[in-house]
Amino acid sequence: AIQVHYGKVADMAEEELYIVYKGVYLVKLIHTPESLKYYEEFSFRPDDILIVTYPKSGTTWMQEIVPLILSQGDPVVVDTVPSWDRVPWLHHNKTRKLNLDQRPSPRVFITHFQYNMMSTGFLKVKPRVIYVMRNPRDVFTSYSHFSRMASFLVKPGTQTELLHRLLDGKVVFGSWFDHVKGWLAAREQQHIMYISYEEMILDLEASVTRMAQFLDTPLDSEMIRKITDRCVFKNMKKNKMSNYSLVPSTMMDQNVSEFLRKGIAGDWKNHLTVAEAEYFDEFYRKQMQDVKYTFVWD
Ligand code: A3P
Repeated sequence: AIQVHYGKVADMAEEELYIVYKGVYLVKLIHTPESLKYYEEFSFRPDDILIVTYPKSGTTWMQEIVPLILSQGDPVVVDTVPSWDRVPWLHHNKTRKLNLDQRPSPRVFITHFQYNMMSTGFLKVKPRVIYVMRNPRDVFTSYSHFSRMASFLVKPGTQTELLHRLLDGKVVFGSWFDHVKGWLAAREQQHIMYISYEEMILDLEASVTRMAQFLDTPLDSEMIRKITDRCVFKNMKKNKMSNYSLVPSTMMDQNVSEFLRKGIAGDWKNHLTVAEAEYFDEFYRKQMQDVKYTFVWD
């Protein structure tokens, strides 16, 4: 049976909005026991592509880039199909209606799940994975704006309270540290390409090229230029199929904060107080001391 229970009684808001699945919070509105069962029983194909991110790390950006790589720059799919249908979440309650088993290969999916939440089918079939990481200070900054505009998330409270909740993993999809450490540790078992939001900001053409190579899709320089141009922040922001303007404002109020908000690296410097940044550094150092990976932001 699927292990789902409802949030901690101590916090009514969490109890109302979240369920707990494999030890982490998920948004109750879109995750149901049925949708999680569908996910657990989903049949992967070896040529499937799974994009994996912690929230606010470049998910939506990847839902634009990867389809454009696969179409070799043809924009029809990103112009006509909403991001969540062209690159669906396997664990959302509406996904079953998409008849994913009838989609031609290569299919592309997205998830925020930690490695230890992955299904046995995934672990066995080992589809290709692109794992995107972002400086957790910017993740926090982005998440704190997002949690004000998204009605399905617990309200942030004070900034310091939210910072503690995020560092302690008491936010949707759990701890950033568990997420990144779990997926980095999986590199021996799975077929994974690692990239960061910051690398994409620094050199989007090079990032697209590297992803296309990983996905065995040959692209010439004209195609790469075209894809990059479509995906830069100011252009992607205009795409109604990707900027979440199709979502009712009762769910995401973009007057409070836009979904495609700033799209830069290092905005945390405008957001965290000195004391919060110091606390963050110390917490980060302790959590990451045994991790052997060079992050662009370190
Ligand atoms: P900011 O809030 O810092 O602006 P996700 O899609 O994982 O929820 O992440 C959202 C973050 O990615 C937001 O960060 C958003 O602006 C940023 N983003 C989305 N598309 C982008 C793009 N084309 N270029 C740069 N950043 C982008």
